[in-house]
Amino acid sequence: MLSGGRIKIVDLLKTTELDRDVVVKGWVRTKRGNKNVAFIALNDGSSINNIQLVIDVAHFDEALLRRITTGACICAEGKLVASQGAGQGVEIQTRSIELYGAADPETYPLQKKGHSLEFLREIAYLRPRTNTFGAVLRIRHAMAYAIHKYFNDRGFFYLHTPLITGSDAEGAGAMFSVTTLDLNNPPRTPDGKVDYSQDFFGKPCNLTVSGQLEGELGALAMGQIYTFGPTFRAENSNTPRHLAEFWMIEPEVAFYELEDNMELAEDFLKYLIRYALDHCEDDLAFLQKMYDPELIERLKFVVDNEFIRLDYSVGIKILMESGQKFEFPVSWGLDLQSEHERFLVEKHFKKPVILINYPKEIKAFYMKLNEDGKTVRAMDVLFPKIGEIIGGSQREDNYDKLKQRIEELHIPEKDVWWYLDTRRWGSAPHSGFGLGFERLLLFVTGMANIRDVIPFPRTPKNADF
Ligand code: 4AD
Ligand code: MG
Repeated sequence: MLSGGRIKIVDLLKTTELDRDVVVKGWVRTKRGNKNVAFIALNDGSSINNIQLVIDVAHFDEALLRRITTGACICAEGKLVASQGAGQGVEIQTRSIELYGAADPETYPLQKKGHSLEFLREIAYLRPRTNTFGAVLRIRHAMAYAIHKYFNDRGFFYLHTPLITGSDAEGAGAMFSVTTLDLNNPPRTPDGKVDYSQDFFGKPCNLTVSGQLEGELGALAMGQIYTFGPTFRAENSNTPRHLAEFWMIEPEVAFYELEDNMELAEDFLKYLIRYALDHCEDDLAFLQKMYDPELIERLKFVVDNEFIRLDYSVGIKILMESGQKFEFPVSWGLDLQSEHERFLVEKHFKKPVILINYPKEIKAFYMKLNEDGKTVRAMDVLFPKIGEIIGGSQREDNYDKLKQRIEELHIPEKDVWWYLDTRRWGSAPHSGFGLGFERLLLFVTGMANIRDVIPFPRTPKNADF
């Protein structure tokens, strides 16, 4: 067994085999006690729960015990017994302790008192050692696993789309460029522009904002694919819901129309939330207790209720007739702000909403035009507390219409000719969507700031660690 010579605390706390010798290794959360007996709460990251080490002080070197403080890493050996105290089932009557690494209380920043999330962001390299981030990161792992399981069980193929691209999928124009040119002295063309033909890729390139366009190539060959990788947006939006580097899951399915796409999105989200309820009980209970008293109720509510499906035009009408004062104006043709999305979801319907058929002007070039010539088969899934959690659409599969849209928007054909070619040969109706992984995690963990659901957040003016 590749156990590192220890039993994980998560397994110890479940065991029914008592009165046996065990070895545990982990980091000290707290130490308390008196002259005769000391109690150490030990955590090894496998669970939110600690194991209690009971120490008969007389049998230990006093200097060693003094160096075992909050944050220290130790190996302890002893007998697993039923606990005398309340709050835990088992504890260890400790026979020996080896100190792997001390943590000087004068300098170690994570003392046992609760720290603010703002402070923890400044020391993000240490935050995985806190209860909060342990819980969030275990849930993050569980959700990543559940995503792969969901698609694998349904015959989707995981397609690896490139992170470096020469195209701008969303037409958002907020991209990070990738270059090896000397920025202080770049080569120039005769007319004074930067000469990208001398750059690494021989043309301007950037970090991808989405794997969708390449994902469509996969769907139009393999039927149903999904991507799951990092995406990058250089928008300068300092909000609790935006990151410059975030992870996105993008399924893309041949022969799916918008209705099928909505079914898939709803089923997928409910599966993931149910998975968290079934597999992350202890961590969710901790986050509920510490941050969000309605967390578990909210998760169950989403799993148990049908999402509302609504035309953008009807949504706009509801907002305009609501009598509600909004910071941003509402009228047909304008994009919805988070305050509008949350009004529909939290106040009006009190359920998740899938908003469809948006005006073509506020959506990307690749969305399928409706018969009215004004709206496209877009869908945004709107969630309580989050606003938009998923964005997707049926894709324009008609070559002429897609080409016309590309021309109208002045998208250089040299960037997207290969994408257009999919509509030239063997085109098919197809649809897909993108789920923001950290938006999902915001919802599932109940955390309020997206910086607190990713181990190392990248936001404007912040790329530490
Ligand atoms: O709505 P978006 O921009 O859609 C796309 O990128 C499409 N290519 C998806 C597709 O159809 N395959 O982004 C999709 C989702 C959003 O709904 C949101 O959850 C998340 O990605 N997202 C962000 N998450 C964190 N930080 C940001 N800056 C985000 N921008 C979008
Ligand atoms: Mg969107």
